[in-house]
This record gives sequence, C-alpha cells and structure tokens, in this order.
Amino acid sequence: MKKVAKETEIVHGTHSAHSTSMDLVPPIHMTSTFRFKNADHGAGIFQGTSEGYVYTRISNPTVDLLQEKIAVLEQGESAIATSSGMSAIASVSLALAKPGDNFIACSTVYGGTFALFNKHLRDFKIEPRFVYPSSYASKDRIEALVDENTRFLYMETPANPTLDVADIGLWASVAKPHNIPLIVDNTFASPYLQRPLTLGADIVVHSATKYLGGHGDLIGGIIVGTKKMTDHIREEYVTHYGPIMSPFNAWLISRGIKTLAVRMEKHSSNALKIAQWLEGHSKVKKVYYPGLVSHSGHHIAKKQMKKFGGMIAFEVKGGIPAGKIIMDNVKLCILAVSLGDCETLIQHPASMTHSTYTREERAKAGISDGLIRLSVGIEDPDDIIADLDRTLSL
Ligand SMILES: Cc1ncc(COP(=O)(O)O)c(C=O)c1O
Repeated sequence: MKKVAKETEIVHGTHSAHSTSMDLVPPIHMTSTFRFKNADHGAGIFQGTSEGYVYTRISNPTVDLLQEKIAVLEQGESAIATSSGMSAIASVSLALAKPGDNFIACSTVYGGTFALFNKHLRDFKIEPRFVYPSSYASKDRIEALVDENTRFLYMETPANPTLDVADIGLWASVAKPHNIPLIVDNTFASPYLQRPLTLGADIVVHSATKYLGGHGDLIGGIIVGTKKMTDHIREEYVTHYGPIMSPFNAWLISRGIKTLAVRMEKHSSNALKIAQWLEGHSKVKKVYYPGLVSHSGHHIAKKQMKKFGGMIAFEVKGGIPAGKIIMDNVKLCILAVSLGDCETLIQHPASMTHSTYTREERAKAGISDGLIRLSVGIEDPDDIIADLDRTLSL
C-alpha cells in the first residue's frame, strides 16, 4: 500500500492485521496468563519454537498493539510499554549503564527525571554529567564530558518546564562517532510534532500519561528504538524488574492516540495565540514558547518540529507573590501538575514539579522561582485568555 500521511497512520495503527472477530476497536485482553494447547506447545513457546503468549508481564496482545502503533508513529522498529514515564526512563538507564559508568544529560529535565539521575542512579554508582545550560550546549561542551565509561546521552526537548529547545542533530553528532546511544524524551512534542529517531536519536522515551493518552485518566510510559535495543532493555530490565503496562491502560492509550493529530494541532494553535497574547501583556515579564520568534530556540524548533506544541512557561512582574495570585484565582485553568490533557492546567515548577532540584540547581538549569507553567488545553483559546486576563488584573 502507498505510504500514508501521519494523520492516517495515527487513526488506523496496525489493528487490522490482528483482528479475528472483525471488531473496529480491538478488545482488551485482561488476562494475566494464557492457555497452552498442550505440554509441547507450552514448552515450544518457552524455547521460541512455537508461537503464543505466556504471561502478561512478558507480553500481552493489547499491549503489543499499542507497542506496534507507537513504533510506527516514532518510526522505530520496536517499542516497550511501561507502567509510567519514570519507569520507562529508569528501565532504559539501568539497562544501559552499570556501576562505574556515567552518562551525559541536559540539565533541564522533568523534576522526577532529575531526582532519578541525580540521586537514585548515583546510589547505583552511575554518574550523571549535566550540561549547563543545555539550550546553549555546543558540540565541544558535550564532547568534553564523554569518556570511555559514558554509556548514553540523554535530552528532553522541548524541556520541562523552561521549554528550552535542544538540537537533536547536534547531540546525535556527538553520540554517533562514539557509538553511544542518544535518548530523547519526546513527551512535550509527541510523535505528531517531532520524530527524534529520524533526526539521529537512537531511543525515544515518553510519559504516555501526557499527550499520547491525552485525557488525564492514566499513567503510562513508552520506550522506542531498534529491535536489538528494545530486546536488550526488555531482557536486562523490564521483564524481570516488571514495570509493565496494564492491558487496560494500553487500550486507553491506543484510543487516545487516534485523536493525537487533531489534539496536537489544537493545542499548538491555542498555545501560540495565548503565548503571543501573554507576550504583549504589561504585567508579564517573559514568555517561553518555542513558537515565539523571541524564543532562543525558535530556529531549532522550526527545524525539528512540525508545530510548537501546547506548553508555555511565563514569568509575571512581581515574582512569586504575583504568580500565586494567578494560580489561586484562575477559574477555567486548573491548578494541577501533569500536562497534555484536554483541560488547561497551570502550576508552579519551583514549588511543585521541580522541587526535586535545590534552589542552586534550579538556577543553574534556568528554572526561575517565578516561573509559571501552562499546559494549554483544547478549549476555546479566548476563554483561556479571558481567565488569565482577569487574574493578571487582580
Ligand atoms: C517530560 C517528562 N518526562 C517524564 C515524565 C514522567 O512521566 P510519568 O509521570 O508518566 O511517570 C514527566 C512527568 O511529568 C514529564 O513531564
């Protein structure tokens, strides 16, 4: 069949290849174990000489469907669905690095990722080497941190919460000659807006809790890469540590992905309109949105993203007290962490999602105390603007 557009891939996925009952929507295989036809069949599956499922921690048809779908969307060979974004990142890290190894990461990442890297991996004697500030990382500065024990490079772009944009191709150009995999957290963009594997990355991770699920009703994670790499991560970590995704969550995420293209278009157009409006507001000090020409990473974002996504960060004049007035008085925007939902969510990174950083670490990573993060939903943008406008005038 002729290669179809991204929007078509997103709606259809790979379901038709699996359907035996002709259902439009695949059933949820809520089962922990699977029957064998006879003892030889069971033994054959374990030996790899017969086809069949064994046990849902190892594989499950509903989870397989999601994995196939996301692999197609990210243009990877294979994917692993995990219980959360954090377990996806932990699984990849612990499968690739062992005690005595190190890895290089951009300094501005989700607060949970920072805690995993800076505390828990250190406890395992795996050393993170952060690039400060990552948005201005030159090839030489990243290269200077590589040695014979460097096991992977890790970046988040656009980054949570500053919306810093890092150049995937530039990081890949450091990773490739050393034969070190480059991992990209693609949560903020989603595969509709950015496909890191086509830009030189080797592994993509997601918090599927966000845009992939899209409806704020589940927690999940995704890892995508070559079959060899995902087999390694599965064998080294996922199968025996067990951070797998439940079939029900996999089904919900597959359902959410069907509307990914229309949601990302609306999140992006809403966010651009709101960012431009905020930039013109007299009480707003600074707006961070990759779609704004004033954004330091605008030209890179334009090169590697289809549109600029639904996430905005901004600082108001008057710092934290002024920011609190907004967060305490919004009516339509919801004061909550997480992102990528249909509803607009507002939160304060320094005291919430990024409180895992010390104040000094936040300053080095460019996360100011007054920064407010907005996950723009798919409501009418004028209603969101009216809500923010009212609170800015209080
Ligand atoms: C960019 C990014 N990566 C990873 C995670 C962790 O994902 P989860 O909450 O699904 O474990 C988050 C959570 O907010 C995130 O924003």
